[in-house]
Amino acid sequence: MSWRYVAVATEAAVRAGAIQLEHYGQDVKVEKKGEIDLVTEVDHACEAAIVEILRARFPDHDILTEEADLERKGSPYVWIVDPLDGTTNFAHSYPMFCASIALTLDGESVAGAIFDPIRDELFTAEKGAGAHLNGERLKVTTEDRLLQSLIITGFPYDLHEKLVERLTPFIRVMGRARAVRRAGSAAIDLSYVAAGRADGFWEAVLKPWDMAAGRLMVEEAGGRVTRFDGSTVSVGPDQIVATNGPIHDELLAALREELREVETALV
Ligand code: IPD
Ligand code: CA
Ligand code: CA
Repeated sequence: MSWRYVAVATEAAVRAGAIQLEHYGQDVKVEKKGEIDLVTEVDHACEAAIVEILRARFPDHDILTEEADLERKGSPYVWIVDPLDGTTNFAHSYPMFCASIALTLDGESVAGAIFDPIRDELFTAEKGAGAHLNGERLKVTTEDRLLQSLIITGFPYDLHEKLVERLTPFIRVMGRARAVRRAGSAAIDLSYVAAGRADGFWEAVLKPWDMAAGRLMVEEAGGRVTRFDGSTVSVGPDQIVATNGPIHDELLAALREELREVETALV
């Protein structure tokens, strides 16, 4: 794998991060994509900057990006781009968002960069060459009990329509883990598992751009990534469970457990 892929992903993510910082905390134009799903003018500006860089460096590659439907050439190399992950946070001036860029080869993530401009943290990963935070090698935790674990999760934008379905696993894990956090940026969540700041993460539905770089980050830091039933996560949309490894099966079991009494209480 070429070192250039990570370098260009980094260049593009850092450029997007600079645009995010420039506009952070100010009045930005916000549009609704759904009832609670937003897009801002900054998402679009970051996307344009990232696409410009990727196109200039790799004109033969394809690009799949969240906010624009770009024409595809049929290349086995596809860049998957979330120009602003954590849009809801950004729109509310809540300081937890990033840009996430990955290169996939035949559907598999091979390089990625996630940049958090607020903390000046750059997470990078290259297939077979490890994951790094600002150049320091990352390693997942060694915790082997869910009760002693800090778990992160997120909720897709269909939460209001599927409240019971989405909250059932949340309640179960809340009752089994030391703590559960919901920060609002799946790419940062996955990076934190890779960095050993959390022991595991799950989400019921993530889009390709939410997880393409982050899942590689976790795997390259020595972690495990599967669906709720232990099978391989697709490019997406798909469910994802990403952990340090030792707690994986216990988290899967908790997520799959029926919770009839909770369902009854919630409806
Ligand atoms: C969202 C964030 C959030 C996750 C949602 C994603 P966006 O991405 O990653 O944490 O829970 O499922 O859609 O809309 O901010 O790019
Ligand atoms: Ca996202
Ligand atoms: Ca986004």
